[in-house]
Amino acid sequence: MNQLFINTAVTKGHIRKDLHGQFSEHLGRCIYGGLYVGENSEIPNVNGMRADVVEALKAIHLPVLRWPGGCFADEYHWKDGVGPKEGRKRMVNTHWGGVTEDNSFGTQEFFELCRQIGCDAYITGNVGSGTVQEMNEWVEYMTFDGISPMADWRRQHGHEDAWKVAYFGVGNEPWGCGGNMTAEYYANEYRRYQTYIRQYRPDAKIYKIAAGPSEGDTHWTEVLMKNAGKYMDGLSLHYYTVPHDWQHKGSALGFTRQDYYETLKKTLKMEDLIRTHGAIMDQYDPDKRVGLIIDEWGTWYDVEEGTNPGFLYQQNSMRDAMVAALNLNIFNKHCDRVHMANIAQLVNVLQAMILTEGPRMVLTPTYFAFKLFQPHQENELLDSHLLSPDLSAEGFTLPAVQESASLSPDGTVHVTLVNPGLEESQDVEIVTQGLKPRHVVGRMLTGNMDDHNTFDAPDTVADQPFVSFTMSPTGLTASLPPCSIVHLAIK
Ligand code: AHR
Repeated sequence: MNQLFINTAVTKGHIRKDLHGQFSEHLGRCIYGGLYVGENSEIPNVNGMRADVVEALKAIHLPVLRWPGGCFADEYHWKDGVGPKEGRKRMVNTHWGGVTEDNSFGTQEFFELCRQIGCDAYITGNVGSGTVQEMNEWVEYMTFDGISPMADWRRQHGHEDAWKVAYFGVGNEPWGCGGNMTAEYYANEYRRYQTYIRQYRPDAKIYKIAAGPSEGDTHWTEVLMKNAGKYMDGLSLHYYTVPHDWQHKGSALGFTRQDYYETLKKTLKMEDLIRTHGAIMDQYDPDKRVGLIIDEWGTWYDVEEGTNPGFLYQQNSMRDAMVAALNLNIFNKHCDRVHMANIAQLVNVLQAMILTEGPRMVLTPTYFAFKLFQPHQENELLDSHLLSPDLSAEGFTLPAVQESASLSPDGTVHVTLVNPGLEESQDVEIVTQGLKPRHVVGRMLTGNMDDHNTFDAPDTVADQPFVSFTMSPTGLTASLPPCSIVHLAIK
């Protein structure tokens, strides 16, 4: 039997809600069709935003949204996307499918979307092909409330009040699509650009993020922390879970058990990456002031057959839900260093929460995984220790059970447990030291590894009540079915 000891008297860090952040890029049908359909669409909308999608995102308390990219951010010129729509410039989206970008979704629309969802804004600025002045003026346009050319321009566009920008990223992947820079060069550029991100709002300080490494590039982290650490609030990290390799990624559906375990094994590398980059950050920032911002993560498969290869559209199965849950538990465990994470991407792209087709919408298994983790938002991480054997399957070794536990302000202990195995149930004896449980409520997501929702069968995978537990004087014993994610609220 697995044993989980939770010390309810010892907290180990604050779990920011922003660990459940999302990413939206002008890529494929994420923005256009997925989030924004325009005021004149027959699809029900509020000021152009899809009403069904906004409602679904509010239900999982989406805390923060990154925009406009990704690679797109480094060729995006924000002035093309403000003011009357008929005057907005049309451009080519060279990164993603070579389609025409008509800029009908720009800064004003992004803040309207955030307003409707009730989430914070994370803007990524253009370093690769933009200027310091352009970035400086964007921040002035968005956040300055006084008299100035950009604030006046915003007022002319119908927005009297300045918006709040919670996070600002200075470029994206400058080691690749964001300009092919060296770490040393970008560190200098970061120092220069961030100087002109002015803090106009004392009530809403902008958290500045330097573009960090890809996967295991420790040199990048070292140079950025050494040369620019004191000028940043956060350093990003990008890590995608690719089942095989970048040339033959594998398909989102119709995969083997071996593919399943390989995918989960690869996603668990996230923990090593956080430890490795975190150790370098510790050398320069022992107090953990600078956050590690994992602003692109998730599965990346071959695109769905018959779809534009530049649109990165993929289906989403229970395997993706397991990937999400494993990562969300890892982020909780490292909440002292990880301040925000943004899964890629919100709608219709990569590991999406939501898929749309015309007026139809489906919630993916990943959506339901996020729903089960939502109660951790803004809690305190609890000290927990799991005694559990490893699981060996199809040549891969993984933990048989994975968990994290937190304490909410009202004194409830929240536990999320993952059983990645496809064969065996896992019984877990949960000892809640310092709390004699009186009341437990559970929810769960489970299914076959490739179960998924389609437009014709949208309810195949959904969360459901979890009742397979028995109370004991020291806690409770829960029985996790194979391929499952369980959330327990213990009082
Ligand atoms: O999320 C898709 C792309 O992956 C992003 O645009 C880029 O930052 C990353 O390489």
